[in-house]
Amino acid sequence: MPAKLILSNMRSFLRLEKNRNKMKKNGVILHGSARSNGNTRMIADLVAQQSGFELVDLVKLKIGAFDYDFKNSEDDYLPLMRRVSEEFDSLVFATPIYWYSMSGLMKDFFDRFTDLLRVEKEIGRKLSGKTMSLISCSSGPERPDYFAGPFEATAGYLGMHYAGDLHGWIEGEVIPETVAQAAREFAARIKNALHRDEGDERD
Ligand SMILES: Cc1cc2nc3c(=O)[nH]c(=O)nc-3n(C[C@H](O)[C@H](O)[C@H](O)COP(=O)(O)O)c2cc1C
Repeated sequence: MPAKLILSNMRSFLRLEKNRNKMKKNGVILHGSARSNGNTRMIADLVAQQSGFELVDLVKLKIGAFDYDFKNSEDDYLPLMRRVSEEFDSLVFATPIYWYSMSGLMKDFFDRFTDLLRVEKEIGRKLSGKTMSLISCSSGPERPDYFAGPFEATAGYLGMHYAGDLHGWIEGEVIPETVAQAAREFAARIKNALHRDEGDERD
């Protein structure tokens, strides 16, 4: 076979493979701590490792606050959400608890869902039918009962399925075994939720 033909076949194969991978159901952990390598990250990393989900560190991106004139529409939010909407079927929000609530970075991220309802509506529509879940991290086992409320309600509003949450904390710079065990179970749950409608598609 001529070298040119081999090269062209190879290119077609790679393109097909790329599309196939894109179509594969997958998950992403959106990490919203104010620091990249803090406590939330330790737990999110364990879940990422157990689930195979990709982790995106939001603090490294430029994500501005919601603006009524959409002045921040050139920042990293829309490209990220375009990719998330195209490549992932499960979105896991990982946030520390700051003042009884999600981090400010995560709240900005949530406020920007409004961009997807008013401007980039196609991205917003693509979120419908996907799965949302939550990882929270504070200084101990207690978490306010209402904490998951905004996540669950937002999932409902966007037509997403809420798959539950994991709460964790760090003791002496390590993940306590109770939290590690819960994280392993959570990872298995979100992986199973990802494949719940896959049926025969699974390899
Ligand atoms: C600004 C700020 C506010 C906090 N507020 C709370 C709180 O309301 N409840 C709580 O249990 N812990 C609170 N904490 C403790 C953090 O939730 C805890 O240290 C967490 O593990 C930090 O995760 P990180 O390293 O990813 O930021 C707060 C910490 C900070 C820095």
